[in-house]
Amino acid sequence: MTDEPIKLDPWANVEVKDYEKVFEEFGVERVTDDQKKAFKHHLFQRNLIVGHRDLGNIIKAKEAKKPFYCLTGIACSGPLHFGHKTIIDTVLMFRKFGAKTFFAAADLDGYLSRPKVRTLDEAYDFAAENIGHALALGVDEKDIYIQSRMPSRYYDFAFEISKKITPAEFQAIYGTMELGKISAVILQIADILHPQLNPFGKPMQGIVPVGLDQDPHIRLTRDMCAKFPQYKMFPPGGLYNAHQPGLREGTKMSSSHPETAIFLSDKPEEARKKCMKALTGGGNNLEEQRKYGGNPDICHSYATLKFHMENEKEVQRIYKECKAGTWFCGECKKLTADFVCDFLKAHQEKLKKTRKIADRMLEKE
Ligand code: TRP
Ligand code: SF4
Repeated sequence: MTDEPIKLDPWANVEVKDYEKVFEEFGVERVTDDQKKAFKHHLFQRNLIVGHRDLGNIIKAKEAKKPFYCLTGIACSGPLHFGHKTIIDTVLMFRKFGAKTFFAAADLDGYLSRPKVRTLDEAYDFAAENIGHALALGVDEKDIYIQSRMPSRYYDFAFEISKKITPAEFQAIYGTMELGKISAVILQIADILHPQLNPFGKPMQGIVPVGLDQDPHIRLTRDMCAKFPQYKMFPPGGLYNAHQPGLREGTKMSSSHPETAIFLSDKPEEARKKCMKALTGGGNNLEEQRKYGGNPDICHSYATLKFHMENEKEVQRIYKECKAGTWFCGECKKLTADFVCDFLKAHQEKLKKTRKIADRMLEKE
């Protein structure tokens, strides 16, 4: 162990390995059993939400039937995969529990913070594709907004925010002073807080589901609220999703390793092939697996079911039988591949319609 302070880099696309240390250093909390009970949903029940800030405030608001919001965003810089689906599923879960929901298609962010997006036009194209998928996953059109198409009050607010962050503070949090990234951060803070700002909404509790690597944004955003006493905003909470591992090596599904990620735009048969090649937690041979059972907890194929299959009974059956050595990887991967293919077929059928809606949303000024 070193005493080096940890820096979370929201742009590095690396997996946070030492959760404990991050939790301790930055004051992220674990989800308690009572909190899990407040949300009867597989993401909570299966421990796929690893940490939070101020989730308690949301539970209180929910129980008191006070308004609260849930907001997330995706930097439009590439196609969406099953990892993004989990974040969107989290927002849909909160909507079910009564939250006002917001989904930011962060096209400006994509252009500003990702070198691979070379022009704004490219970012708009990614926004259209990302929104098409978000709609097909069940996000409401009225809950989606595009960063580049917001009313001017939103940009005024971003400039207001910029004046309240010192270079030293920014450098200490992010370890960079790249202007594109500074702009992206300021827009992201405006995203997270604007539902509490007139004319967009009013002060209320909110929660932002993201990967743990995005926590620096949450911390800075929470600090911002006190700098604008006139707006009476509540510091929003954060909710940190576990990362789904890629199908093969590595610990985080990522667009930079397309052979191990399931994209929402993958042809079902293409996804099937990837699923059949997944890294499992099975024994070296059938004999060993019969004797000792498999290990679903480290199995990258099982992770797909754990994150995405809602059928609790079936997921539990697979877990138990795998451990008992009565259910084997070949059949299991086939079941998983079938599940993924069926999902993709239905999703892409919806996409035919929703992609048109997305294109229309981008044409509007
Ligand atoms: N920066 C986020 C990403 O890289 C995207 C984002 C933009 C976002 N605005 C947001 C995430 C607001 C959460 C809340 O994916
Ligand atoms: Fe993974 Fe299924 Fe094999 Fe168990 S049986 S190790 S869950 S692929």
